[in-house]
Amino acid sequence: MTTNGSVPTVTIRIQRFNPDVDKKPYWQEFTVKATQGKTILDALHEIKEEQDGSVTFRRSCRHAICGSCAANVNGRNMLICDAPLRDHLDRKGRVTLRPLPYLPVIKDLVVDRTTFWEQYLRVRPWLIPPDNIPEKEFRVSPEEVAALRNAERCIMCGACYSSCQVIALTKEYIGPHALLKAFLRVLDPRDSAPRERLEDLDRGDGVYRCHTIFNCIDACPKGLNPTAAIETLRKLVIKRVAFEEARRERQRRLDQPIEVVGEAPLLSGGE
Ligand code: F3S
Repeated sequence: MTTNGSVPTVTIRIQRFNPDVDKKPYWQEFTVKATQGKTILDALHEIKEEQDGSVTFRRSCRHAICGSCAANVNGRNMLICDAPLRDHLDRKGRVTLRPLPYLPVIKDLVVDRTTFWEQYLRVRPWLIPPDNIPEKEFRVSPEEVAALRNAERCIMCGACYSSCQVIALTKEYIGPHALLKAFLRVLDPRDSAPRERLEDLDRGDGVYRCHTIFNCIDACPKGLNPTAAIETLRKLVIKRVAFEEARRERQRRLDQPIEVVGEAPLLSGGE
């Protein structure tokens, strides 16, 4: 970081690549002022507006909600709208930006997420409700809600998916993002297809393809734990018949006040 008057300046290194014209990726450096509160996404906007309009990246909400701006910063996947520029300088005072790893590059920091979304759809991420939908509301207990908390805050940014070494080897693997979504539906007491869901995960490209590498936990900008969700799904895959019976029994009482004593261990995937 150097100073320009009273405001320090920093170097942003961006991996550039336009498959239509470039044979291979190359690095380009830009200098921006590191004003207090500026995020990496702010810096990219500044570069695009004032220095090089061809720099290409995705963004939308700017509030760490939409997941569009996930990129690799100094070797780590994160949301760049949520990353203060001054907090991510390397020892040379630079910030190095690459697209999310292991995905085809469309242009610069924009990657092709087709396989990511295909795997997401494969787990049927929507709720499959029971036939007897209550007239007023589903009555879900605090314990049941707590069991889902690990998964419900996922924003589908792709940071976990593209940090996973198994994904680097094969796009056949469902991936931590889709398995976290499967976990959300399997554990939801309102869902009526846990057995079918678990059967689909009991395959070579399902829960057993995870090598427990933990990169997905480090990469998640929301602090979620896909590895724990995958571990729970592995346990439930084994006892899916009993789990389905417990789910049917639970669904008979979905419109009644909650009493979940005895169900919590199964919900958490415990023994
Ligand atoms: Fe990949 Fe996470 Fe498993 S990084 S191998 S999904 S623990």
